Amino acid sequence: MDLNKKFPGRRVVITGAGSGLGRALALEFAKRNWSVAIAEINDERAKETAEMVKKEGGKAITIHCDVTKPADLDHVLKKVLKEWNGVDILINNAGVASAGWFEKIPLEKWDWIIGLNTNSIIHGCRSFIPYFKEQKSGYIVNVASNAGIASLPEMASYNATKAAAISLTETLRIEMAMFNIGVSVVCPTFFKTNLMDQFSSPDDRQRKLADTFFGNATVTSERVARHTIQSIEKNRFYVITQKDGRNMWRMKRLTPELYFKIFGIIYKTGYFDRHLTKLLKILNLVG
Ligand SMILES: NC(=O)c1ccc[n+]([C@@H]2O[C@H](COP(=O)([O-])OP(=O)(O)OC[C@H]3O[C@@H](n4cnc5c(N)ncnc54)[C@H](O)[C@@H]3O)[C@@H](O)[C@H]2O)c1
Repeated sequence: MDLNKKFPGRRVVITGAGSGLGRALALEFAKRNWSVAIAEINDERAKETAEMVKKEGGKAITIHCDVTKPADLDHVLKKVLKEWNGVDILINNAGVASAGWFEKIPLEKWDWIIGLNTNSIIHGCRSFIPYFKEQKSGYIVNVASNAGIASLPEMASYNATKAAAISLTETLRIEMAMFNIGVSVVCPTFFKTNLMDQFSSPDDRQRKLADTFFGNATVTSERVARHTIQSIEKNRFYVITQKDGRNMWRMKRLTPELYFKIFGIIYKTGYFDRHLTKLLKILNLVG
């Protein structure tokens, strides 16, 4: 069903909408004349997005929000209810990236990324679900990553936070259905954003690898945003936005042993960057 027919109130909250996918989503909603709440830790970027939303024909409010703090998400809900008297969609998008050999990732970096990528989603859902239930409608979109499915090497902390995001969203999909609350999980592969700004890894090797993969990305945040909105319209659960991601997802489900064998062989060659790039290119051609 067309998004504006499905949600005539046209009100969306997006965390981390000061950049990348969050901003692209904000602008896609603006084109459809939505009111957009930009819940961001970076006030400058939030203001920029708000100006862009207004230029595209939407309405915007910015709310300072640190997604690692549960009270900030409560505040976001209170603020939008005061401004709009209701809310239709929550997109838990804010997140950061990290990498490193498993045993070299410092414990404090585990805490950091779990706080930002997993707990942030828990906080958003905990704040908004009681309201959506009371309203008897709503939609939750959690932005995870294909990393939570593919489990590529030297990315354990990022992979684990995104796998947790997928799992908790799967649970919500079942729990929320009887309350007329839609739920989707977004699992993109690489696309160019500012994600590397806060990237953390114990040594330079992983930064170089990540730079290679982001550098080779051809899909834009705008395309990922459009795909996400189309999936909300169709009430589609898994939003796997790129072909390489869909093919890895299928392969792992259909032939898990073969999946791990192939990636193990590629990794052992010592040319993971080059060979994975080639494999992703092939996977992008199929299906
Ligand atoms: N870019 C990719 O290739 C890719 C792939 C898969 C998944 N993702 C996911 O997409 C989401 C968006 O990332 P992006 O690529 O657009 O990155 P980005 O860095 O461009 O945007 C992330 C935004 O989140 C904000 N943010 C950071 N910490 C915050 C906090 N504590 N509270 C509130 N906001 C905070 C940042 O200020 C920034 O505006 C993330 O969850 C990321 O893991 C990205």
